[in-house]
Amino acid sequence: MKEKLLSMHEKAKSDLAGVSTAAELESIRVKYLGKKGELTAVLRQMGQLSAEERPAVGKIANEVRAAIEADIDEKKEKLSAFLIEQRLKTETIDVTMPGRVRPIGKKNPLTQVLDELYDIFLGMGFSIVTGPEVEYTYYNFDALNIPADHPSRDVADTFYITDKIVLRTQTSPVQIRTMENMKPPIKVIAPGRVYRSDAVDATHSPVFHQIEGLVVDKGVTMADLKGTLEVFAKSLYGDDTAVRFRPHNFPFTEPSAEMDIRCFACGGKGCPLCKNEGWIEILGSGMVHPNVLRNCGLDPEEYSGFAFGIGLERIVMRKYNINDLRLFYENDLRFLNQF
Ligand code: DAH
Repeated sequence: MKEKLLSMHEKAKSDLAGVSTAAELESIRVKYLGKKGELTAVLRQMGQLSAEERPAVGKIANEVRAAIEADIDEKKEKLSAFLIEQRLKTETIDVTMPGRVRPIGKKNPLTQVLDELYDIFLGMGFSIVTGPEVEYTYYNFDALNIPADHPSRDVADTFYITDKIVLRTQTSPVQIRTMENMKPPIKVIAPGRVYRSDAVDATHSPVFHQIEGLVVDKGVTMADLKGTLEVFAKSLYGDDTAVRFRPHNFPFTEPSAEMDIRCFACGGKGCPLCKNEGWIEILGSGMVHPNVLRNCGLDPEEYSGFAFGIGLERIVMRKYNINDLRLFYENDLRFLNQF
């Protein structure tokens, strides 16, 4: 039995020499020291020994167990050091490898031009105000002198939330809110989203953007309107930009005018960009209607003002000759990177 124990230690030693993983090490431990292990089996037979033999053999058994345990522990340490070394060797970082490119987004051209517009108007002393996109019909229509039977109020054109609440169809209601909350002199622009019940195509979207402008003070005239809007056009499209004002009709302005710029692509001769007109429509404008001033508690005998509305998509499309409005909303970097 003694010999068996001693040779068991030798056997365990040679078994351990071939171990290269933690799982193999564990199976060796089980093989010798486990409940059904070889050493345990020998110890079970101790009962067959005589009383004199038992202490000596017991002592050897304990020594062999301790020795095997120590060998296993030693192997365990060597093994983990070896595994760490292996990992360090295989997982080194190759600093010469090219980095991973993370594509960075680009400001949408709508935002870029809006930023330009802010610069232009802030430079002329305007401040920026905003109003709600979910708006009362009173602000979106009535207070703006738009009569109850006006076609723009039709459910076919306007998104109604209730009888009295709509998704605003224009930024003009911010004019009313501003005059209710501010005393003249007023000089503001109001950018924002507007909504109309249009199917999506190259030139229509149910959501688009406008920039409203409003100036109210004593003695404001049409000359102020023309001067301000001409400076705006020249700042945005270049100093040699020619503008013209055409009579128009809006319920909330009187008189009303649309402003065109001379086509920058053909210089006015006529081309596809200006549809052979030589001129490109840029915005709607006019002198604030006396009824609108009155609706806001301002006396039209004392105060006058002008207003304008710019379609952001429209001016950006014309500035860059973009022919499909849907490109603005797709966030395709191949498009965005061109601006
Ligand atoms: N609200 C008009 C529209 O959506 C645009 C407009 C025209 C605004 C003339 C104005 C203005 O302030 O004076 O078509």
